Amino acid sequence: MVRMLDYFIVTICTFISNLLHSLWTLLESEPADLPAQGPSPWDFMEELSPRQLAVKQLKQQFLVALQANNAQEVLKILHSGKLDIDTVLEVDDPKMVLASYKQGYWLPGYKLEKSWAMGIHVCVMYNALETALMLLEKGAAVNRTPNGKTPLHVACEVSNSDFVSLLLAHGAKVNSLSLSGHTPLHHCVTRESVDCAKQLILKGAKVNVTSHNNDEDTPLHKAARFGVPELVALFLAHGASVDAVNSLQETPLMTAAFWAFDTKEQIYSQEHHFVCRLLLDHQADPNLQEEDQKTALHKAAWNCDHVLMQMLLEAGADARAMDINGCAPIQYLLKVTDVRPMAIPELCYQLLLNHNAARVYPPQFHKVLQSCHDYPRVVEILVNSYERLKPTKKWRAAITDDCYERHKDFYDSVFAVCTNTPRSLLHLARCAVRAGMGGFCHQGVPQLPLPSSMKKYILLEPEGILY
Ligand SMILES: *[C@@H]1O[C@H](CO)[C@@H](O)[C@H](O)[C@H]1NC(C)=O
Repeated sequence: MVRMLDYFIVTICTFISNLLHSLWTLLESEPADLPAQGPSPWDFMEELSPRQLAVKQLKQQFLVALQANNAQEVLKILHSGKLDIDTVLEVDDPKMVLASYKQGYWLPGYKLEKSWAMGIHVCVMYNALETALMLLEKGAAVNRTPNGKTPLHVACEVSNSDFVSLLLAHGAKVNSLSLSGHTPLHHCVTRESVDCAKQLILKGAKVNVTSHNNDEDTPLHKAARFGVPELVALFLAHGASVDAVNSLQETPLMTAAFWAFDTKEQIYSQEHHFVCRLLLDHQADPNLQEEDQKTALHKAAWNCDHVLMQMLLEAGADARAMDINGCAPIQYLLKVTDVRPMAIPELCYQLLLNHNAARVYPPQFHKVLQSCHDYPRVVEILVNSYERLKPTKKWRAAITDDCYERHKDFYDSVFAVCTNTPRSLLHLARCAVRAGMGGFCHQGVPQLPLPSSMKKYILLEPEGILY
């Protein structure tokens, strides 16, 4: 904490002094006839001695040669004897490929654009394989971390398997930790990095390793987070623990279930769904609970993800599991129904109710109308899940007038059937069958010797009107 504070103070002081310096430079250069755009070459030469300047220029030459994969030029510079092979260079790193920081450290944005690296790191970044080979044969260090990552971490980060094999053949440590506590295998998170991961595993990378930081993610968590089925399959085939938990007690299944919905783009990811399928096929337990006692089904319900809910429920997920706040998945669904425009919420409700989910407490049913009145199909499914339901004064008030007008026929039918008198015999028969199956209608109803329209009716398929 104290160190962080120091860091803040130093950073802020640097910032202020830079600001003052630029202001001063600006004022100084005001009378000049040329526009003052950044420091002139003259300023630089004033600050550096001729020798410093020469070193700076040599480093720049070295960097350019590395980036261009010009092994001859690199060799020439090294032979001049003026630059050490393991010299640390300052390089542009706009995508933050090179950097790895400890968690919890705050860094100003401009710092992240630049990084420190050695020749090999630069070669990895610019795919300069021949130059890298030359450097390694000349004895360049292969496991150093000028900015938190070894060259092997960087090679995995950029999914370059040629470099992974080159580095491993030259003594790169396969389980080394970056400053942020990750092994190279943790950095394999794209489809293109599958080959990197294979080589790491063949060389003894630990598939069950947890990251040495606050997350404690395994590589399988990372692959699940980023939705890469090929990596998930690879890790599982090499003995990764399918129900490994991270520091939040989350399993890879929960991680994939959560990230299967991109809230920004409002789209569902088939890759994440496929990851869940693989995990379940490898006996992942769908009923494990994370630190807030949420299951993967809670996460899928929160996303209104009917594909995943069906997969989890068919794999035995408990529709009645409660989280730390006493909420079952159906409560999560109620909270998000009106904020998931791309979802098909009625399918989610149908799935839960056909897998023995507890229904909403009848005196509280106005809450359903408050959050779902714009979704008459949802209201229909929920009303039909009870033998009968008595309206309270709060019902009509929960439905806005324009919504009532838009769905007048439907809402009139709701108020017509929800009275003190029993509903139709057809509906009562449906309720009897559903009760007879102990709520597990999704498995049971398809086996009944009935026409499919009847089965759909029993499974609460909405029709647009209540009777
Ligand atoms: C990973 O952990 C699981 C469960 O603890 C264990 O069965 C498996 O052998 C481990 N795999 C490896 C490769 O160590």
